[in-house]
Amino acid sequence: MANVLLISGSVFGTATLTADEIEEQLTSAGHVVTRPENADIAMLTDEQQHILIVCTSSTGNGDVPDELVPLYTGLLNDYPKIIHLAYAVVALGDSSYETYCGAGLSIDAALADLGAKQLAEPLKIDALEESEPESVAPDWVSGVINNHLNPQ
Ligand SMILES: Cc1cc2nc3c(=O)[nH]c(=O)nc-3n(C[C@H](O)[C@H](O)[C@H](O)COP(=O)(O)O)c2cc1C
Repeated sequence: MANVLLISGSVFGTATLTADEIEEQLTSAGHVVTRPENADIAMLTDEQQHILIVCTSSTGNGDVPDELVPLYTGLLNDYPKIIHLAYAVVALGDSSYETYCGAGLSIDAALADLGAKQLAEPLKIDALEESEPESVAPDWVSGVINNHLNPQ
């Protein structure tokens, strides 16, 4: 069982729905999931939280959705101390964009730059190939967390 901070960023709702399903699966498995409405840096520096899952779509030209802008700019500008965090990113995107999954990849890079432990390369979900990201992301997140908690 783990304390999981689950943060989502969405424009049209797909990433929110996907995060809803991730939350449900993790909670059913006995994890304690915190799902803030307005994510900010203070939540990441709380050392009670050990695992961070970010589920985000991309907008504009690989840009972070509005609801994640405060968190992302905080990561870039405030240098928060987050070395206690292990994290994984679910990146929703569309491969017809040059900046495919740009938002998820940017957040992944920002977290890694600050010394958080990347549990897996971001899961990229292409809207051109997968119409139901909520059906694939929860199993992936569960697997990543289980591998972290029970290393072989
Ligand atoms: C205006 C607009 C801009 C987008 N820009 C990107 C992009 O730069 N890179 C990418 O991979 N996907 C991009 N997408 C695709 C979305 O990220 C993708 O469809 C995602 O599943 C939408 O999730 P959401 O409903 O949570 O916003 C864009 C979509 C729209 C409508």
